[in-house]
Amino acid sequence: MSASQVPLITIDGPTASGKGTVAQRVARALGWAWLDSGALYRLCALAALRGSVALDDEAGLAALAAALPVRFADGRIELDGQDVTDAIRDEAVGNAASRIAALPALRAALLGLQRNWRRPPGLVADGRDMGTVVFPDATLKVFLTASVESRAERRYKQLIEKGFSANLTDLLEDLEQRDERDSNRAVAPLRPAEGAVVIDSTHLDIDQTVARVLGAYRHRVRR
Ligand code: DC
Repeated sequence: MSASQVPLITIDGPTASGKGTVAQRVARALGWAWLDSGALYRLCALAALRGSVALDDEAGLAALAAALPVRFADGRIELDGQDVTDAIRDEAVGNAASRIAALPALRAALLGLQRNWRRPPGLVADGRDMGTVVFPDATLKVFLTASVESRAERRYKQLIEKGFSANLTDLLEDLEQRDERDSNRAVAPLRPAEGAVVIDSTHLDIDQTVARVLGAYRHRVRR
């Protein structure tokens, strides 16, 4: 089976729309791999912060991304042999990721790494440009969204559960800024891919959202 024949579901959407959890659950239901592309941007941001590469040094960041010493194993993520699974979820790292994600050379440097994830029996890839740029020939493209208030509340709960401190008003402001930056950048702005199934999860729980995605996939392959 050539890579382009491997079935693929892309799930794009704004920060804290639940993409990661939904993508992971859909992948598990189908027995497929899951690519969390946001983690790659977060890893680059963390590597830059730790290695004192400036967040506007486009060439330096692209070089760093092209040789990212990363390993994904058993649900953990390692950077240079060190477990950074939790460290990359920090809001400061997320904000830095959103800033560097606007740089075309960095995005280009991550393309090959992302496409390598497409292997049998299938892949669920979540991010901002999975359906529009990275995997334009995906079997099913989903755009998952939710109101900014419900996303802020979900992110708040997630952070508290992980033992981080958080403030709902600050989170809401942060999300609005990040949405604005992710949607208005010149390269690969956040928008639904052509032909994407749009799912608004404001009033849906995770199970219902996962069921919608699986239903849309079955419908797509049956045609
Ligand atoms: O999904 P996330 O919050 O982990 O992503 C972190 C940042 O990375 C986000 O603000 C935008 C960027 N990103 C991107 O530009 N393209 C992707 N495919 C995934 C993430």
